[in-house]
Amino acid sequence: MDGPIGPRMRIDGREVDYFCGTSYYAMHGRPEVIEAACEATRRFGMGPGTLAAMEVYQELQEALCAWFGAEYVTYLISGYASPMALMQGICEPGDLILMDAATHYSIRDAVPSLDLRVVTFAHRDTSALEDVLKAELRSGERPVVVTDGVFPSGGALAPLADYRAILDRYEDGRLVVDDSHGVGVLGTHGRGLLEHFAAEGPRSHVAGTLSKAFGGLGGIIPGDEALRDRIKERARIMRGASPPPPAAAAAGLTALRLLTADHSIRRRLGANVAQMRSGLRALGFDVAETPVPIVTLTDAGRDLAAIAEGLAVRDILVKLVAPGGYSDAPADRPSLRIAVFSEHTPEQIDRLIATVAELA
Ligand SMILES: Cc1ncc(COP(=O)(O)O)c(C=O)c1O
Repeated sequence: MDGPIGPRMRIDGREVDYFCGTSYYAMHGRPEVIEAACEATRRFGMGPGTLAAMEVYQELQEALCAWFGAEYVTYLISGYASPMALMQGICEPGDLILMDAATHYSIRDAVPSLDLRVVTFAHRDTSALEDVLKAELRSGERPVVVTDGVFPSGGALAPLADYRAILDRYEDGRLVVDDSHGVGVLGTHGRGLLEHFAAEGPRSHVAGTLSKAFGGLGGIIPGDEALRDRIKERARIMRGASPPPPAAAAAGLTALRLLTADHSIRRRLGANVAQMRSGLRALGFDVAETPVPIVTLTDAGRDLAAIAEGLAVRDILVKLVAPGGYSDAPADRPSLRIAVFSEHTPEQIDRLIATVAELA
């Protein structure tokens, strides 16, 4: 990559239409965001030397609280670490962790740090979750279901309303969602998949990131002040790691302000996703009807590698994922992941669809 992220960018000496990655509003490449990061670096330097006592973190805190309607949003060095900080904050001895079998590496790496009993259930399978709960939950144990919200490679949605309903049958059953790809995108206010499925509440928790929709970097955990205190006391990373640099905080803050001030950005993303999904469906691909900006083709009997290659030759970049090449990728066949940005033009999307039609 020879330049900032954008719908059209320079890669390997060529101008290409870019349909990869996770910057769904292309905020990481937006001039205002880049300028804010530069200005914060000039003003505050590269980092606070462990303690995050700089004005930029406070301003980000206020913007995040307004976005999520939260009392406090914990901000930490990476999105990858945010499910770990969240779970270390809320889990108690005697909790039983129930984990989706295709959950992201962030959760898989976090779970052993809890030193709790863990069982997995089949990917996005509500009845498998019910069966595992019946078979495994011992008296006195509290169930904690952990899953991605939007799965990163395939763009599938976890059935969070069903999980919530199942958990409500148990006292204090907790739902923990790594919604790195849902925050900023899904739900009326952009709070993510829990909002989209009306499954929010005091026992449903979200861990997210600024590194995707929000154009910055760093993990975020919205909640109330009690959750803030528990994470601060119990999550070791909050004592033992530096915060993201001021530049990352300022970038996220500026992206949040842009998204708050101009609702047409989110509307454009919705329209682009709908255009991409319906265009590919009209070609006979099996494409789900969701607002997720990750459109993934897995159709057996299609030569997806040849399609990805043919698109690349025509300067349209999509991501070919090898069988089992990501946490939620199908194990038995490749898939083709197409990331849709709010900043793609309808013409770029039409050109991609027309080229796929030619190659398929
Ligand atoms: C589901 C999920 N969680 C966490 C992360 C890590 O977030 P970050 O890159 O902000 O650390 C990613 C990917 O980057 C992801 O796809």
